[in-house]
Formats: sequence, structure tokens, C-alpha cells
Amino acid sequence: MVYTKTLIATALASVALIFSHVQAAPVTTTPARGQIGAIVDKDNFCFFLPPKKGGNIAANEDKAVAFCTAELAAAPKASIFPPGFIQTAFFDEDKTKGWVQVTGRMNITTYSLSRKDGGGQYDIKAPVGSSCAGYNHYVNLVEPSDGVYCIRCCKEKIDCNTGKSQYGCKTVLPGARYA
Ligand SMILES: *[C@@H]1O[C@H](CO)[C@@H](O)[C@H](O)[C@H]1NC(C)=O
Repeated sequence: MVYTKTLIATALASVALIFSHVQAAPVTTTPARGQIGAIVDKDNFCFFLPPKKGGNIAANEDKAVAFCTAELAAAPKASIFPPGFIQTAFFDEDKTKGWVQVTGRMNITTYSLSRKDGGGQYDIKAPVGSSCAGYNHYVNLVEPSDGVYCIRCCKEKIDCNTGKSQYGCKTVLPGARYA
């Protein structure tokens, strides 16, 4: 009898396992293109852009994909920025608080972004499932109208303020360098 009960329990556990996998599937599905960004240093970093050339930044907040300066092991499946896209890049970090950031200017023409596009914000909630390798949070603003981008990856949520997107990079990451 004990043996039978064990068998039943095992069978039920298997069924439960199958169900949990079925339910988890939509969340854990690996996207076709990279949703993992990374910041290594001023020459090796990634941030998010619309998947198609010329896409509007805010309109693609659910679809944006990671683009990097080079192939980075930390950011598998990421695309590479078009040549000339990154014009300047400044790296800053706070080792005590546990954040890193890169800010700078971009040549929007190389990805056909519109000068009329005021930009938008990407973070772990948009696109859902996106991340910055090795950190729990990130905030990334891309502002074609001003030609600036910024990304900060943080251990603590409080250091990656995602509640000020409308004010842009210069307010979200005060003191950061662009020129
Ligand atoms: C920006 O990119 C375009 C297209 O590649 C190029 O023609 C232009 O010279 C670049 N502008 C600057 C300031 O580098």
C-alpha cells in the first residue's frame, strides 16, 4: 500500500510539474533577439533600441532589443550598433551603491531614428523580461530629438529611477556626461 501511495504521489507530482511548466512557458520563452544588455566599460556596453531601423523609441517599449558596441559574452543574442551610431560614451560607477552607467551622444541617422522623436524609456518592465547582466535593475533612456542616450544598471532599485522618464537622461541621471 505504501508503495502504491508513493507511486500515486510521484505521478501527481509529475502532473503538477508538467502544469507548472506549461504555465511558466510564456514567461520563460527565450526571445528571438537579445533582451539582455550589459555594461562592461566605456567601449563595451549595450542598450536597447527598436528592433527595426527607424522605429519610434516609446512605441517600441515592449519590443526593444539589446544592441552592443561589440559581441559580449554577458549579452548573448544582442545585436551590434550600426557603425558610427555611438559618437561619445562616458562610463561612471558607484561601487558602494553598486551601479554602473554609460551616457553619451549618438548619430541617429545611422539607425534612421527621427529627429522628431522625443524618446522614451526602457527598463526591466518594458520590454518585459529585459535585463542588464549582473544587475537587478536598469533604466535606459534614448532621446533621438536631443541625440543623447543613457543607461544605468543597479543592484538597488532606488538607484535606477524609472519614475521620471518624461524628464529625460539629464534629470534621471544628474551630472552625467554627454559631450
Ligand atoms: C551620421 O551618420 C550619417 C549616416 O551614416 C553620416 O552621413 C553623417 O556624417 C554622420 N554624422 C556625424 C556627425 O558623424
